Formats: sequence, structure tokens, C-alpha cells
Amino acid sequence: MKDMDIQSLVDSNNEHVWHHMKPHQATPMMIEKGQGMYVWDVHGKQYLDAVSGGVWCVNVGYGREEIANAVRDQLVTMNYFAQTAGNLPAGRFAKKLLEKMPGLSRVYYSNSGSEANEKAFKLVRQIAAKKYGGKKYKILYRERDYHGTTITCLSATGQEERRDQYGPFTPGFVSVPHCCEYRSQWGEMEDYGLKAADEIEKVILREGPDTVGAICLEPITAGGGVIEPPIGYWQRVQEICHQYDVLLHIDEVVCGLGRTGKWFGYQHYGIQPDIVTMAKGVASGYAAISCTVTTERIYQLIHDQDTTSRMDFFRDISTFGGCTAGPVAALANLEIIERESLVDNARIQGEYLKEKMLELQKKHPIVGDVRGKGLFVGLEIVTDKETKQPVDESISAAIAANCLKQGVIIGRTNRSFQTLNNTLCLSPALITQQYEIDLIAQAIDKALTEVEEKILTPAL
Ligand SMILES: Cc1ncc(COP(=O)(O)O)c(C=O)c1O
Repeated sequence: MKDMDIQSLVDSNNEHVWHHMKPHQATPMMIEKGQGMYVWDVHGKQYLDAVSGGVWCVNVGYGREEIANAVRDQLVTMNYFAQTAGNLPAGRFAKKLLEKMPGLSRVYYSNSGSEANEKAFKLVRQIAAKKYGGKKYKILYRERDYHGTTITCLSATGQEERRDQYGPFTPGFVSVPHCCEYRSQWGEMEDYGLKAADEIEKVILREGPDTVGAICLEPITAGGGVIEPPIGYWQRVQEICHQYDVLLHIDEVVCGLGRTGKWFGYQHYGIQPDIVTMAKGVASGYAAISCTVTTERIYQLIHDQDTTSRMDFFRDISTFGGCTAGPVAALANLEIIERESLVDNARIQGEYLKEKMLELQKKHPIVGDVRGKGLFVGLEIVTDKETKQPVDESISAAIAANCLKQGVIIGRTNRSFQTLNNTLCLSPALITQQYEIDLIAQAIDKALTEVEEKILTPAL
């Protein structure tokens, strides 16, 4: 492409496209192509992508012809019919997916993480209406978790800056305390995981167990700062759910499909959810698809056995849930993950990635905490390790910008909190090799050194 053509494309993009999560004055980069772990912008500059498409999506990497060909072949055979009818890829993918999720048996298709979560919330409300006289309608969510962009998903989101100015919100959503041990709300303690889970019980008792229908949690909080719940947390959460007849909804929109070194994040903790939602890695961004997966019990709770009832089923539809591109891409994606043992790779390379980041924590005075599992790691940046004072968002932005200049794309918590937008996020594709992790670590090391020089050197 000629320079003039590129400039006119950049100009029309800047003039007419309303970009996601971008202040108006910002001019976003324009990506032209991708291959494996790398993308190239319209000026031909190459970047190593350490966040799988910016928001932890492209699990199998870029340029997978196998997926593109499967989608193409399917589209010319049968592109769309509403999910009120069946299609071949939807059935095939559901069967294959459920093999990875013992105890779950139904897949509901839609097209985004938010939508998958909305379906789950609607299921909880409908079960409350049908089985509990409408009473068990409340849904708990956790501080720092994110569940999507719609007004109801924001109602279930524990990030104040994402919510700010978009209220009023949907009633019936109640927050529980976060479980980030580094920022313990109760000082240093031995059983932080149990304490954080017990706080959920307190909320249930305060609200009244007969009013609480479900709790929606990320297995590892993603955009809220890559927070892995501490030891003991998940087992206790499961006990509490059983004790108070509260459904456990796990939001695997980010963690699902291998990201954390298991097929699903919840599978690290020996728990059995009632509802699991997933989106990003399901088709690695080759097509839009999300799934709300439930147990047979949930499926049957919606069903009255009374065939004369007009309310005997889930009265929901998602137009593009009938696109065949989603499940056919998802099936090819899953086959690649299996064939190339990418879940194992995520675990093995993830351990190396964490090791490298822990080295950076030792070396750099502003790396306060390193957290995560598999190819999903966060570094919390602070002004001082003792006080744990979070840096201003402009500092984490400067570190990410420095890496970008070096040709490495990293992520960061972004306009989510008033004061805690200070976590750098890494989620490279599951195909990542050790030398690429070394390149990512080198770039972050250099960026940290340069930013530290600016912020820690006292002015003369
Ligand atoms: C944990 C989690 N749930 C839900 C969503 C919403 O997904 P989507 O943007 O596809 O609606 C996101 C998006 O980042 C997410 O991180």
C-alpha cells in the first residue's frame, strides 16, 4: 500500500470509527495483519502480542487457516438459521465442549461474554419465579470482578469506574468483598481465603438466604487486576452455596479454554458450578460466539412438567446465536488446542512466565505483587513496596507505552477503578514459547527501568 493510501485509511478510521475504551483525543494504532504470536500495524511495524488481541482472546494465535477454511466451507453450505432450529456445528461443538466439563450438560449459544452472562442472570430470575415464588431473585457479585458491558452486567460488576455515569442499575445485585490478599481488607492474617469466603456467608445472612438465588464470580479476576483467589476460598464458597441453596455461576469469559493451564479456571479448585459462561477463547476471535453452559438440574428447573403451561421453558433468543460460523470456528479452535497440547503448554510456559515476572519483582522497587495462573499473569505496580501505594494510571500507561515502542504489546487495568488501575496484564496466546516470554520479560524490564528513573529520581 502507498503511504498516501495508508494515511487516508488512518484518517477515515480516526474520523469515523468510535473506538472502544478510548478517550476522544487518542489516536489508536491500526493493525493490518497477524501471524502466530505477532501482529503488524499499517506502517509495517511488527509487535509481539502479549495479550492475545488486546483483551485475552486469540488463544490459538493469529493466521490459523484451518479455522478460516472451516468457517468458509460452513458458510457456503449453511450460514445461518435461528437457534430455534438445530444446525450441525452447534450440536458437534456442544458435545465436544461438554466432554471437557463433567457434570454439565446443556449449551446455550449467543455472541458475547456480556450476553452469556445476561442469559445466566435470566435463568436465575426465572428459577426464582418458578420455584421460589419470586423470592430468591438476588444475585451476588464480587468487588473487582467484571461481567460485561450491558446495564445488567454492569449491575453485577465490582469496578466503580466502569459503572460510573451509567446508572441507575438493575435491582437485585449485591456485592461481596474482593479476595485480593495483597490488599487484604482485614490486615495480615493466616486464613485470608476462608475469611474472604466467610464474608460471602455474612452477606447472604444479611440479605436473607431465601432471597439469594446465585453468586456470579470470575475464577480468577481478570480486568480487575488478575486476582487468583487464595487457598481455601473456593472450597468454602462451594460449601456456602450448598448450605444456602445458592447457585454457583462461574464467569469463564476470560479463563475458559485453556488460558490458566486447565480447560477451565474452576477446574483448578475441585468445585462444581451450576452455570458456566465463556466467550473470548471459545473461537479465539475467529468468529463471535459465547456459551452459557448449565447442569441438567438447571435445565429441568426451568421446566414445569406441566405441558399446558405457557411458561414452561427459557423464553430467550439471540439472533446471531444461530450463526454457524461461531460453533464451527469453536470446534476447529478446540481441535487445535487438543492436537497441539496447548492447555499443557499454557501451564508449562505459564510457570516460566510467572518465574520471570517474580524475578522482575525482586529487581524493581515498583513491582509490588505478581499474581496469576497459566498464561495469565498480572504485576501490580506501586510507588513503594512498604506502603503499597498504587501508582497513578498514567504510570502503568507509560510502562505499557514504553513496551509498545519496543514492539511488545502488554495490557493493563484500564479505567476500572478510581485508584487501582495499576496492574500490568499478560495473557499471551497459548502457543507461546519460552524465547517469546524472554522477549516479553526483557521489554517489561527495560520499560520498568526507564519509568523508575523518571518517577523515583528526586528532582534536583
Ligand atoms: C470476566 C469477563 N466477563 C464478561 C466480559 C464481557 O464480555 P464481552 O465484552 O464479550 O461482552 C468480559 C470482558 O472483558 C470479562 O472480562
